[in-house]
This record gives sequence, structure tokens and C-alpha cells, in this order.
Amino acid sequence: MTLFHIFALFFLPEVLGQGSSSRPGVVVEARNITLPAGSRAVLPCRSPRMVWTQDRLKDRQRVVHWDVVRSSPEYSVERVLDMSPGAKQRVYNSFNKGRVSLSEEAFNDGNFSLVINNVVTTDKGVYTCNLHHHYCQVHQNIQIQLNVTKSARKERRYWDGEKTVLVVLLGSSVVLPCVNRRPLWREGAQEEQQQVAHWDYQAPGVRPDRAERLVDLYASGERRDYGPLFRQHKMSIDPDAFTLGDFSLSFAELSPADIGLYSCFLHHHYCGIQERRIFRLTVGPPTAAKPSTTRPPIQSNDLPEPSKTTSNY
Ligand SMILES: *[C@@H]1O[C@H](CO)[C@@H](O)[C@H](O)[C@H]1NC(C)=O
Ligand SMILES: *[C@@H]1O[C@H](CO)[C@@H](O)[C@H](O)[C@H]1NC(C)=O
Ligand SMILES: *[C@@H]1O[C@H](CO)[C@@H](O)[C@H](O)[C@H]1NC(C)=O
Repeated sequence: MTLFHIFALFFLPEVLGQGSSSRPGVVVEARNITLPAGSRAVLPCRSPRMVWTQDRLKDRQRVVHWDVVRSSPEYSVERVLDMSPGAKQRVYNSFNKGRVSLSEEAFNDGNFSLVINNVVTTDKGVYTCNLHHHYCQVHQNIQIQLNVTKSARKERRYWDGEKTVLVVLLGSSVVLPCVNRRPLWREGAQEEQQQVAHWDYQAPGVRPDRAERLVDLYASGERRDYGPLFRQHKMSIDPDAFTLGDFSLSFAELSPADIGLYSCFLHHHYCGIQERRIFRLTVGPPTAAKPSTTRPPIQSNDLPEPSKTTSNY
């Protein structure tokens, strides 16, 4: 009996993990915006992945499934098994029951490796381990090719440039490795305490480390604003920001004093999101004066007009 055993670890982007809110995060957008003085301006900051939905079913939002693609005797795709936390694993083919399995602890220890006992010729194929996290909208998969041989001399394992290939002896046991220890696959609770959005402001000439915090928003509903601008209702953010995934910063009436660098940070520690959007705001001359009494009602999704927006560095 041979037990092949390889650790295939998923990519672990450096942005994930224990980041504190002072860490800069990944810049997903950076642009210069010029808007007329006196206008109602919006600096956009939206991310559907930051939408705070109560995970009532908790763990059911996570799923692992193993599939196999066979090319002989004819092409076929088959679901081998699937599992969610709190539910028994489902083995699809009755021949595999008791022979093919995952650890019941998979969603606690992050080891989703597939164990196949008493390997038969028809086990040959390309296996995929698929991890879905619906709440975080994260989907990952890895492929492993399994070949079966009758000769112990031909047993081997290697990386073919795309996937692990295992050639195993008929009748032996094999572990198809699939390990992902990122907390998001292993823990289910307390998401709401780990979601934060905040805006920073840097006036011209001010160093990045002296940027001024404008506002902190928490998915729990808590909000802290700093400085007088929010209280004077000069700046605002939709009170339903976490419901809409829209953290755009609105200015009631843009003034030349508002120029500078604005940064929107979105942190979702549980899902591993750390995004930063940066806007260099310039205030141009006012557009043709409109009597303020007839100004149209405020719309929450106004984007700066494309002609006045310069995209990117
Ligand atoms: C994962 O689980 C398999 C099967 O239970 C086991 O053989 C293997 O040692 C485990 N791998 C790790 C990295 O824990
Ligand atoms: C494994 O099987 C595939 C498909 O039959 C074949 O193309 C490949 O050469 C085999 N690899 C090994 C090392 O046996
Ligand atoms: C944005 O403004 C900065 C500073 O004025 C400038 O260095 C940069 O080239 C501008 N980027 C674009 C795309 O205009």
C-alpha cells in the first residue's frame, strides 16, 4: 500500500490576513478628477463585495466539491462528492461510498484533500478541487491528474507545468491534495466586526502619514466622523453604504478649499478584501451659475462627467 501525499497550497495573496486598518491596502483605482466649484460632487467608491448581508445560514455559504473529467472510454464530467459545513458529505456514485472521502474536519482545518482507497482503473482522470465561498464571492480550484498503473515501478508523481500528476498502483490508496488554510475557509463567525470603510484626506503639501481621517464606517452600523465637515453636512456618505456597497463621498457644494488627495479604504478582514481608491481632486471654475433654490434633488449615484475626469496615472 502506498499513500501518496503532497501538499498543494493555494496562492496566498499578501493582501490577505491580519491586516490592520492602518495598512495601505491594494490600490485598485487612482485618478485625477476636476470638478467645478459650487457643484455637488461625488467621489465614487463602490464594491459589491463589501455589501453586508447577514449570513443567516452561516456555514452553508461555503462549499467544497470534487469533480473528475475522464477522457476514456469517452469524455465525461462527474461530480465525485461535495460538502458544506454542518452537512454530511455527499458521495455521488454508490461504488465510491465508503471508498472515497474527505475529512469531516475539512472546514475546521482547511484540509480538503480527497482520499481514494483501493484505487481502480476507472479512477483515472483529471480531478478538480473546487472551493466556493458565496458570502465572500471567492472561488478557487486546483486540478490533479490521476493515472493508474499495474506496475509498482511506474508509480510516480510530478508537476507537469499546470497540475500535479499522480501515477498510482492499482489497489493502493491515494490522497489527492487540496489544502487551504486561509481563515475564510475555516471560520464563520463575526464577519460584521471585521468590515470597515474609511476616507482619508490629504491637503496639498501634507505628507501621506499626516493624512486626516474624515470618517470611519463599520458594518455594525457604527460611524465615527472627524473634523467639522461631516457635521456641517458639507460631506456625506449614504447611510445605507454597507447595504448598497456604495461608500462614495459626496460634497454638498464643492469649494476651492476642498482640493487635495482623497482615499477610500475598504477592509473586509474576514473575506480578505483590502482595497484603496485614490482621487486627486482639483476644483475648476464654477459652471454657469444656477440659482441654488432650483437645484435638482440630490441623486446618490452621480458620477463625475467623463469629459471632466482623467483616468489614472
Ligand atoms: C490532509 O488530509 C489527508 C487525508 O486525511 C492527510 O493524509 C494529509 O496528511 C493531510 N494533509 C495535511 C497537510 O494536513
Ligand atoms: C496519464 O494519462 C494520460 C491520459 O491517458 C496520458 O496522456 C499521460 O501520458 C499519462 N501519464 C503518465 C505519467 O502515465
Ligand atoms: C494627475 O495629477 C498629478 C499631479 O498633478 C500628475 O502628476 C499626474 O500625471 C496626473 N495624472 C493624469 C493621468 O493626468
